[in-house]
Parts: sequence; structure tokens; C-alpha cells
Amino acid sequence: MQDIATLNAKFARPDQVRFVAGPGGLPVAEITTGVATAAVCLHGAHVTAFQPQGEKPVIWLSRKAVFQSGKPIRGGIPLCWPNFGPAPVGSPLPPHGLARLRRWQVVDVVAHDTDRCDLRLALAADDASRELWPHDFALELQVAVGRRLAVALTIRNPGSSAFTCTDALHTYFAVSDVAGVRVSGLERCTYRDTVPTPPATCRQEGPVTFGGNVDRVYLDTTATCVIHDPKWKRRIAVTKQGSRSTVVWTPWEEKAAAMADLGSGKWHGMLCVETANAGPEDAVTVPPGGTHTVSCEVSVLSGAD
Ligand code: BG6
Repeated sequence: MQDIATLNAKFARPDQVRFVAGPGGLPVAEITTGVATAAVCLHGAHVTAFQPQGEKPVIWLSRKAVFQSGKPIRGGIPLCWPNFGPAPVGSPLPPHGLARLRRWQVVDVVAHDTDRCDLRLALAADDASRELWPHDFALELQVAVGRRLAVALTIRNPGSSAFTCTDALHTYFAVSDVAGVRVSGLERCTYRDTVPTPPATCRQEGPVTFGGNVDRVYLDTTATCVIHDPKWKRRIAVTKQGSRSTVVWTPWEEKAAAMADLGSGKWHGMLCVETANAGPEDAVTVPPGGTHTVSCEVSVLSGAD
């Protein structure tokens, strides 16, 4: 296990990257470029902050988030893999998979120039992961911090048989109040509405707006989404690759109040727009020796509309 001193000795970059013991003592890479700041917790390879200079935070993190080995962090960018949502029937995998619950290793840090810095993290199969999921795998997460934030999860299959997985870059965005924002880019898409039981299949007319618990998988979409936040006079664009579904989630009052790491009223300031292959329609099969990459790029667009 890489400790803080070893991480700093090998990977710190003067004025740009340093490793600190974050909340709960978990190691965190603090990244400062000439144009933005970011933080990545090695537990779950979890981006917990991104803020371009002169802007409000772009990524939301719950004030009640739990930072503990084996527990998911509420907010930031949880990595959902090898399952998005509940585990397949009969599987011991936890909801949203094992990747967000494990400690990742730093592979390298590259400071391209004063304005752009990349961090690469890795997680490989071990005895503990094989108890949950019986496949060999090698994951790599690349986080590029500049005026934009780019996150790419590469899933490699070093084993001798194919595996099938679902995934998500489950990004929590900071918004002024979710009740007043809208998301464009999903117009005319079919979505699975998972709020009713059983889930309903619906069609999106116009931008997505919010007035209650929303939990939807937009199917067969590779489009860029834009979060329009008139109160904060800003738009956030989420461009993606290697992803065929987009998940939009806000818990609203009743659900949030029941979540110990979120809380009553605290959901107003967050909105999840997730770059996903949520399955089952878009589950990804990775052949032996093959790779699959799912990635997104987040940028603040100037001017509100
Ligand atoms: C979303 C799902 O992606 O994640 C929701 O669509 C779920 O159904 C939410 O409630 C949060 O999941 P978790 O496991 O982090 O509480």
C-alpha cells in the first residue's frame, strides 16, 4: 500500500500535486493548476472536487459524506463498476459495484504545463475482488485537470474468458437549486423511469426539469448534455465517449432525508448526470485481452441561457 510519504516522494509535483491525509485519514491527491483545482481520493479513485478559477465548485460533495474504507463516498464522481445499480441476481457484488469501495494505486502524475495536470490510478483483481466477482481485470482511471475536467475509466480484461459489465461515471454536479435547473441534450430520447414499480418506458419531450424524485436511464444516447443553471448564471457541459446511456438522478426530500450521508434539504444543491452503460441494453462485453473505455469531459460554458 502506498503511504502518504511514499506517494509524495514518488509523485508530488512542486506547486501542482501533493498527497495529504484527507477526511478519515484516506489519502487524497490535491491538484492545483494555473486554471483550476481538484481533489482525488485514492479510496475509489474518487474525484471529490473540481473548480475552475473564478467559478463556483462544479462537483458537489455531501457535507455528511462518509470517508471510510469499504464505504462509498456521497458526492464527487463515484465509479460504478462492474455493475451499475443492484448486482445481478445471485451475485454478492454491492450496489454500484466494487470499484468505488477499493483503494486504488497511483501509477503516474504528469504535469504537462502550468495549466494541465494528469493523474493515473489503477486497480487490479485480487483475492478480495474474486470473492465478489470471479474475473481478472485491470482498471485504469485517468483524471486530467485543466480548464476542463476529463475522466476516463479503462477496463482491461487480462483473463482468458470474456466478461460482461455495466458502468457509470456517477457525477454529482453542484447546482444553485435543482428545482430551478434544466438539462438539455436528451430531447426525444427514450428513458426507463425507475421511480415507479415496475419501471416505465417513456419519451423525453423538451429539456429535463425537476419537481420530485427523478431516477431515469436515458437509453441509446451518446449526446452531450448541458446543465442550465440560470440562478448561478452558468451552464455545465458534459461530453462523453464510450457511453450509450445517461442517468439523471435527484433524490428529492423524502429519499434524501432517509439517507444518512445526504440529509433533509441537502439535495437542493446537487444533480447527478451520469455517463453510463447502465444495462442491460448497453452492458459491455470485454473479450480476453480487450479493453473498454468510458469517459466524460466536464466544462463550464460562458454565459447563462
Ligand atoms: C443512481 C441510481 O445512479 O445512484 C439511483 O440511479 C441510486 O437509483 C443512486 O439511488 C445512489 O446510489 P447509492 O448506491 O450511491 O446510494
